[in-house]
Amino acid sequence: MRITTAGESHGKALVAIIEGLPAHLKIDVEQINGALALRQSGFGRGGRQKIERDRVEILAGVRNGETLGSPVALCVYNKDFENWQNSMSATACDEKSMLEKRITRVRPGHADLTGMLKFAQTDARNVLERASARETAIRVAAGEIYRQYLLTLGVEIGGYVQEVCGIKDTGRYAFNELANAKTTGLGMLDSDVERRAEEKIADLKRSGDTAGGVVEIRVKGLKSGFGSMMTYSEKLDAQLAGALMSIQAVKGVEIGDGFSVAERSGKDVHDEILYDSQKGFYRETNRAGGLEGGMSNGEELVLRLAMKPIPTLMQGLKTVDFATKEPCTAASERSDVCAIFAMEIIAECVVAETVANAVQRRLGGDTMQEVLERYQRLP
Ligand SMILES: Cc1cc2nc3c(=O)[nH]c(=O)nc-3n(C[C@H](O)[C@H](O)[C@H](O)COP(=O)(O)O)c2cc1C
Repeated sequence: MRITTAGESHGKALVAIIEGLPAHLKIDVEQINGALALRQSGFGRGGRQKIERDRVEILAGVRNGETLGSPVALCVYNKDFENWQNSMSATACDEKSMLEKRITRVRPGHADLTGMLKFAQTDARNVLERASARETAIRVAAGEIYRQYLLTLGVEIGGYVQEVCGIKDTGRYAFNELANAKTTGLGMLDSDVERRAEEKIADLKRSGDTAGGVVEIRVKGLKSGFGSMMTYSEKLDAQLAGALMSIQAVKGVEIGDGFSVAERSGKDVHDEILYDSQKGFYRETNRAGGLEGGMSNGEELVLRLAMKPIPTLMQGLKTVDFATKEPCTAASERSDVCAIFAMEIIAECVVAETVANAVQRRLGGDTMQEVLERYQRLP
């Protein structure tokens, strides 16, 4: 399956086209809209989220709630475009409005400076409009379609926020507890830790500063053998790490016990293999996070990502004005203080996309019935 997205943060809309989805996949639009609403919520978000009320519009490829096998075209309109038409219109911008919206006080930690140099721009807006995490709205819309594909096969994805700016939840949770994270406000599962994390975010907001955090994503019900050790491009661990890294502000990805495996010896890291006539091959531990040799091994996939603090700070970091080359403080357009809850929603969708692609690559099939039959035949 192939996906292309397009759209600027304050442009008319975000769009995506997915090719290669099998026919007869049932599409639940309200589930997509539910995820879009969650992506916009969470403690620490900025003013933009109050303007947008994201809803997906399916433009092609679905009829009467089922995919046709043709490319699926999705669209999420930017409500804020009404306020930006004069400076973001594709055809007729007004010089004065464009100048008003021009950004030259390039922000450290953003694509602004490098993007301007690379694409020969004199206005950082021509860079940041696409670099912005607004793009993740359409990745969530598409991701929910991949999730619906996986759910047909009994594969589920969940996750929670494990850490915010050093305030960490050290608990261990069963997969069925993860759904609670969608209802808490910050996506954490320990209410005491969450309260302290919210206080931290509120403090940072008062001082014009920002926060990042850690998210854990889990995939339940994926059979063994997806991905392949035969070529490095097919390794599922590499694809997942790459996909998660492609989300704005992700600076680290761990699989299973991740970086901590380097501190321990082999007997405390590898998952010993057992066999039972009912269960087949299994492991009693899952430190590998369900991935060995670039393939799913039948255990839960366990992935963690680190999100850096939001780079637009209201207190303004030191920078240089691109136009005058004079030192100044960086631009500070309306911005989030912490978007870790949104990150959790986005990461689930990106994982859904990657896993669904690995499944479709291995099983093929023009219809969901074919995919399901082939999946069920696997051990
Ligand atoms: C859900 C989400 C919301 C974000 N909100 C903001 C924001 O309000 N302001 C900002 O400067 N960066 C925000 N970011 C981060 C930037 O988009 C990101 O740091 C920037 O594009 C540079 O990319 P990089 O961090 O991957 O290098 C957000 C990221 C995500 C995932």
